[in-house]
Amino acid sequence: MIEHPLHPMVVHFPIALLSTAVIFEILGFLKQRESFRQFGFWLLAIGLTAGIVAAGFGFWGEGAAKAGGVPEAAIDRHESFAIATLITFGLLLIYRRWARDRWTPGLRAIYISAALAGFVLLGTTGFFGGELVFQYGAGVQKAATGSPAGPAVPPRPGKN
Ligand code: HEM
Repeated sequence: MIEHPLHPMVVHFPIALLSTAVIFEILGFLKQRESFRQFGFWLLAIGLTAGIVAAGFGFWGEGAAKAGGVPEAAIDRHESFAIATLITFGLLLIYRRWARDRWTPGLRAIYISAALAGFVLLGTTGFFGGELVFQYGAGVQKAATGSPAGPAVPPRPGKN
């Protein structure tokens, strides 16, 4: 059984890939650059795959986080935003495929709005994920023992 928390190792991929996908998609539409939109499409596809993998590891680590005393409500909040994020980007990918040859200004506006919504959901998911670690200590084996008022390691003589 692997003890190392795998979810925090992989979450950076969907966050980076999906947010860059949104930037390239929007730039592609605004500047009418097909190459940007092609790139955005592939970032979206790979980012979504990475997000599904990350979510799988998240579900795997959920039990350990609960057992470690992380409040269930905080985990559920992060999980709900993650699921909403993946559904949004999944629908975007399908929409993107479907609208391939029939982009009208209206379809484009819907797509860009949904992409921005996905971007916000992704950021919120990451924010609440960080809360699990930095506020509730999920997956943290040794919390810093120093008091907030001073360093954990006493200063060396003559080095102050
Ligand atoms: C799009 C999918 C997801 C993203 C982008 C994401 C993002 C994050 C981030 C940024 C952290 C903080 C990591 C750190 O600061 O080291 C985190 C932690 C965590 N996330 Fe997620 N998450 C996703 C899906 C899920 C799902 C579906 C679950 C299931 C409950 C989950 C459970 C957890 C847990 C338990 C932690 C605490 C660290 C650990 O024990 O592994 N995540 N997540």
